[in-house]
Amino acid sequence: MSDSHREDPPTGVVNLAAKFELLPGPWQPHVVAELNDVQFKVARVEGDFVWHEHEETDEAFLVVEGRLHIDLPDRTVTLGAGELFVVPKGVRHRPRAPGGARIVLVEPRGVVNTGEDRNELTAPNDRWI
Ligand code: NI
Repeated sequence: MSDSHREDPPTGVVNLAAKFELLPGPWQPHVVAELNDVQFKVARVEGDFVWHEHEETDEAFLVVEGRLHIDLPDRTVTLGAGELFVVPKGVRHRPRAPGGARIVLVEPRGVVNTGEDRNELTAPNDRWI
């Protein structure tokens, strides 16, 4: 594994608040850490994302600031700061944050944010910040 994208000091401490400030815009997740094949990504979200699913993996959402709704086929989950939810593999979901939110995503390396669909909200993978 290359360390070239690792810009944190040797302490390895990742300051989430500082990382959020570096994000170029909403719905553009960037990797801040890896644990084996799992990546921790920060994202600012605002408004509606698109319905999608991930056939191969679960996806964890941790809200750091604001409020995030995750629409599921049969219900909507609402997360406030400090709350965590795991969308099971293969379950369609639509994240949305009318008032904006700052979140951490935890998922395996290589997961595409829009799932099986590719559209204008599809973000490149493995972008570190
Ligand atoms: Ni997803």
